[in-house]
Amino acid sequence: MFWVLDGDTLWRNSANPERKSCGDCHGDAKSSMKGVSARYPVAHGQTGAVTTLEAQVNICCTARQNAPVLASESKELLALTAFLARQSKGESITVGNSATTQAAIARGRMIWERRQGQLNLSCANCHDDNWNGKLAGAPIPQGHSTGYPIYRLEWQTLGSLQRRSRNRMTGMRAEPYAAGSPEFADLELFLMWRARDLPADTPGVRP
Ligand code: HEC
Ligand code: HEC
Repeated sequence: MFWVLDGDTLWRNSANPERKSCGDCHGDAKSSMKGVSARYPVAHGQTGAVTTLEAQVNICCTARQNAPVLASESKELLALTAFLARQSKGESITVGNSATTQAAIARGRMIWERRQGQLNLSCANCHDDNWNGKLAGAPIPQGHSTGYPIYRLEWQTLGSLQRRSRNRMTGMRAEPYAAGSPEFADLELFLMWRARDLPADTPGVRP
């Protein structure tokens, strides 16, 4: 919750070339951002190119505030996304299988179902086929992305869904995609579609 409070402070910060805080344009986040993160990532156009919440925040930083991009996994970007996602706590995740999201869901599903890495496993092998089983004594969850960014005890800090997915890929001894890559955005959209109708609960805490 300290991160959410930091995000609230950043939301009201107008120290940028345009002298405009996020709140100057968007007003009270409690109402203007309610439900927003629950429908992110969003897909655009015929190709279904995907914009994650992180990417949208950076669009506003650069295009609206004339400020530099916030680096992925930076304290500022994590605090802002945690603050934004907090405004949707309890709201149902609404990423749907619409005409615009279909292509991105299909691309994300391919990543999810493809065996990869030296262990030759797919994400689905664990999270769809064996979700009530155990891995080295730890329960295998369905792997729903309802609480991101999460505070992870192993990290001793907050981290994004991309960081979590990157971890999983190195765990499978596969080559992770680059930070901010379209592949991670597709996977994220697929995961949020897969978690549709579940209540959003950022910031989650995980071991
Ligand atoms: C100068 C006005 C302005 C400022 C400052 C601004 N935004 Fe925006 N923001 C917009 C506009 C206009 C849109 C919708 C069009 C677009 O996506 O660019 C938008 C869209 C968004 C969305 C997507 C909303 C949705 O319903 O999909 C989010 C999230 C967001 N902004 C967050 C932020 C954050 C966080 C900051 C501060 C770092 C910020 N904005 C600063 C004008 C602004
Ligand atoms: C060998 C089994 C296995 C594979 C393969 C696997 N995972 Fe997982 N995953 C787990 C286990 C066990 C956990 C819970 C313990 C932990 O967090 O490490 C987990 C946790 C998660 C979580 C966290 C859910 C939450 O509650 O926050 C996500 C998201 C996730 N996995 C996504 C993936 C993705 C994406 C892939 C493929 C790139 C993948 N996993 C591959 C076993 C697996």
